Amino acid sequence: MKNTSEDYVFIVSSLKGQLPSLPLVMDELMTIISDPNVALYAIKDIIKMDPSIYSQTLKVVNTVQYRGEGESRITSLDDAMQRLGLEKVKRIALNTSVLTLFSGAEFTNNFSPETLWTHSVGVAVASASLADFLHFPMSDQAYSCGLIHDIGKLAKLKYDQQNFCEELNKANELGLSNFHTEMTHQKIRHDLLGAQIANSWGISPLVEAVARWHHEEDRSKRTEVEEPDIHKLIDVVQFSNSLIKEIKFGNSGHSHKEVLSRSIMRRLKISEEDLDEFKEKLKNELETEKEHISLMNRK
Ligand SMILES: [Fe+2]
Ligand SMILES: [Fe+2]
Repeated sequence: MKNTSEDYVFIVSSLKGQLPSLPLVMDELMTIISDPNVALYAIKDIIKMDPSIYSQTLKVVNTVQYRGEGESRITSLDDAMQRLGLEKVKRIALNTSVLTLFSGAEFTNNFSPETLWTHSVGVAVASASLADFLHFPMSDQAYSCGLIHDIGKLAKLKYDQQNFCEELNKANELGLSNFHTEMTHQKIRHDLLGAQIANSWGISPLVEAVARWHHEEDRSKRTEVEEPDIHKLIDVVQFSNSLIKEIKFGNSGHSHKEVLSRSIMRRLKISEEDLDEFKEKLKNELETEKEHISLMNRK
């Protein structure tokens, strides 16, 4: 594979029909979510139309964390939304629609669509949380971009399952990351493919930029990215991806040991003390998230 952009356009077009189309609801969610003035009722309209998001919202609100012991079951969407708050409701809606994208795919070994999805949710949570920690006002975008960053892996699986599974085995055998094997063995690159998919979906250009560059540390090599905020968003997701792998939350397909990028830390002005503080905060957030993830994976 020569990895020209025509190759990726070809793969995406030959996957048409096999690759799930972007759930309609997600397209709407992405648009609404990037609007800071969005009202709860706009999200409510979307949730009402999607039974899986609807039931997921009720499942989460009825956990001890939100309902409180001894209280009767919450059964109305209005009550659920009131209790959960806008932030949580938006995330449940996004997570659920991405899970539907992943379901139906078959992986081998210890790699499953659910573990890749769990990895993606982990990166989403970490990215949004890191954005907040840094007072970077793009945490909603960081969440969506984190959730979709590895969509190219799902597409690779759909395109050629046997090849991709062999590739993952090879990476694990050699102790390399999946991205490293892609580069050294001229395999289909999940970053380029993911960006092409985001482009074909016509969703936010931020998602496309993050999918495209989430393994490129050098800002000068991220062609066509000009705005400093977009570079910063890519850095945030890239760093969160490494953190989530270090913490071993979910599985992105390989067991390669991650090294956290010191140059990204310098650029984002994260000191070693900040890093320790942030990791503690993140671990607590992921603990709660774990419960919600297992609820969603339970059919
Ligand atoms: Fe990746
Ligand atoms: Fe990843």
